[in-house]
Amino acid sequence: MAPIGLVAAMREELAALLAELPTATASRVGGRDFWTVSWHGQPLVVVLSGIGKVAAATTATALIERFGVGAIVFTGVAGGLASGARVGDLVVARHLLQHDLDASPLFPRFEVPLTGMSRFATDAALSDALVQAAQAALETVRQTLPPTEWLGLDLHAARVHEGLIVSGDRFVSTHRERAALVQALPDALAVEMECAAMAQVCHDYGVPLAALRTISDQADDQATVDFLRFIRHIASRYSAAVVGHWLRARA
Ligand code: ADE
Repeated sequence: MAPIGLVAAMREELAALLAELPTATASRVGGRDFWTVSWHGQPLVVVLSGIGKVAAATTATALIERFGVGAIVFTGVAGGLASGARVGDLVVARHLLQHDLDASPLFPRFEVPLTGMSRFATDAALSDALVQAAQAALETVRQTLPPTEWLGLDLHAARVHEGLIVSGDRFVSTHRERAALVQALPDALAVEMECAAMAQVCHDYGVPLAALRTISDQADDQATVDFLRFIRHIASRYSAAVVGHWLRARA
C-alpha cells in the first residue's frame, strides 16, 4: 500500500498528533524531516512543510518523488473569508486557487499560465472522508477540551464547511485586504498560504490531494492576535482529532 503524505505547515498545527504517533523513522530531505510511520494500519509520511507556496510545492514534490506517496492530505489553519466561516469552524477544500497569481493581461487573473486552470479540484473521495471525520472531530474536541480552554469561542456552534480555499504568499491581516479578496473571489471560504500550490504539484503528477483547515482568525486587523492564540492553544487538537477519526474510519 502506497503511503499517504500527511502535511501541516507549522509544528503548532500538528503537535498533538505528533505526540500520539508511534515511534517514526525520520529522513531529512530538502531541510525537512519526513517521518515514516504506520498509524491505524495506514502507512504515512508525516512532514512539516514550512510556510508559503514555495515551501508547500517543494514538500509535495519530495513526498511524491522521494517517498512515493499515493495521496497527500494537508491539515492546518486558515483565515475565514466567508461571513459564516467563524473561528473554530472547519473547512474542507473542494477547490483550491492561488489568489496572488496574476499574469494578466497575458492570461486571465488567477490562471496558472499555460494550463488554462485556476481552480484545482481536490480528490472527491478523500474530501468526503475528511468531511465525515471533521464532523466527528468537532464532537471530540468539544468533549475533550475543557470549556475553560475554548478561548471564549462557542465551540458548540462550530460547523464544517466545504468549498473554495484560496492560497497566497501573504498573511492576510487587514480589513482592506480581506475585503479586496472577498470582492474578487466571493465564493472563497478561507485563505491560507500553501494548499493551492500543493494542488498544482499534485495535478502535475496525478496525485490525489485533500485539504482541511480550521479557521484560526478572520483575516482582518485582529488576525495576528487570534491566529497566534489559536495555534498555540487549539489548532493541533483539531488536526489530531480529524486525522484520528479519518484513519480509524479507513482501517
Ligand atoms: N493562515 C491562518 N490565517 C491566515 C491568514 N489570515 N492569512 C493567510 N494565511 C492564514
